[in-house]
Amino acid sequence: MQPARSRIFGSTRELGSLKRFLSSQELMARDKKYGSKHFEPLPVVLVKGEGVCLWDVDGKRYLDFLAGFSTVNQGHCHPRLVKVMRDQAGMLTHISRAFYSEQHGELGEYLTNLLGWEKFLPMNTGVEACDTAVKVARRWGYKVKKLPNEQATVVFAKGNFWGRSIAALSASTDPKCFTDFGPYVPRFDRVPYNDLKALEQKFKEDPTVCAFMVEPIQGEAGVVVPSDGYLKGVRDLCTKYNVLWIADEVQTGLCRTGKRLAVDYENQRPDILILGKALSGGLYPVSGILTDEKIISCLEAGTHGSTFGGNPLGIRIALEAVKVLEEENLAENARKLGEVLRQELQKLPKDIVTEFRGRGLLSGLVINKDFAEGWDICLKLKEAGLLTRPAHGQILRISPPLTITEEQLREGLNIITTVLMSYK
Ligand SMILES: Cc1ncc(COP(=O)(O)O)c(C=O)c1O
Repeated sequence: MQPARSRIFGSTRELGSLKRFLSSQELMARDKKYGSKHFEPLPVVLVKGEGVCLWDVDGKRYLDFLAGFSTVNQGHCHPRLVKVMRDQAGMLTHISRAFYSEQHGELGEYLTNLLGWEKFLPMNTGVEACDTAVKVARRWGYKVKKLPNEQATVVFAKGNFWGRSIAALSASTDPKCFTDFGPYVPRFDRVPYNDLKALEQKFKEDPTVCAFMVEPIQGEAGVVVPSDGYLKGVRDLCTKYNVLWIADEVQTGLCRTGKRLAVDYENQRPDILILGKALSGGLYPVSGILTDEKIISCLEAGTHGSTFGGNPLGIRIALEAVKVLEEENLAENARKLGEVLRQELQKLPKDIVTEFRGRGLLSGLVINKDFAEGWDICLKLKEAGLLTRPAHGQILRISPPLTITEEQLREGLNIITTVLMSYK
């Protein structure tokens, strides 16, 4: 009988290098030997993805309930994205912003029309787009708000996560992120999340604040959804105190929460909106900020840039990735199936699952620590054919690709329920 791998991937010759025939144990050992240990992957070696499913080196199929940390909203290797990537790769991939390309303006036009801002500035990763937003806000602080030199303060919500750069960890309140990486970026301040009183107090007592940056739902903090009215309150306070509101929608944006943007739940419009992750459906890193002329014009030529940001390959993929989200109604699917998820998972016994959090298909199950360790549960889920990871140890992330069907969702929920009940 053929080995399972050949059945899935075609003839063994298609697999190319013989190195692919190392066992998963050997592959993981090699990874550990030559790689840095700064992140611990779940022990599974994946070789193929299609839609909501992933396959490991032995041909075992898994449901992907992580979607690359809410990135693969369009499903793995979406045929339209693979096609445009191939086509564009054979045409023109990179010229940097030294010259004009057809694609750059096309994506800008599409996104600004779709989402309602005047300008789009592309970068690559989420952290770079967040950093860009902070730069723009500081510039605006000096040029428009007329803050004294070197005094512009950016306020962040406690529990924020916007990446791993020195600037991002300087804003972090998670000791795992910032310990022993100092000195930190100055004039970054923090207020509690979901606390409008504290925000107003900060704006009142510190006239040097140029911006408040916040996630409409804190993803990495464990899917923390603020109270209704918080986003409107943030908008009103930022307007009242002449502070730019930066919404970090790197994780929540582009249909994940059941609407195009999470700020749409309260019909609010931030001054700067940050996108990443799903902007390219996981095929290529593309991020960026959306804002208006009066703000972005603070960046004159030569004050910002990126070798790869805005390259034709990435931009072409991003354009198609957003069109897929729109044309396949993936926000609506996320909203509808998010309800199924909530209804089903709320049935789990309260001594196991202390809380269900989320909106759309961005959700987290808070597991009682006395009952089982999050990592251990993820290992059991893997054995049962479902992949995800815990946030902060005990919060099981549930964020599958938005192309998931109700049948696939119920298959996954069955696995989760069976595994959790097996601890009883
Ligand atoms: C809200 C938010 N902002 C920014 C980032 C950083 O994105 P990247 O890892 O692409 O730099 C993340 C990553 O998880 C995120 O969740």
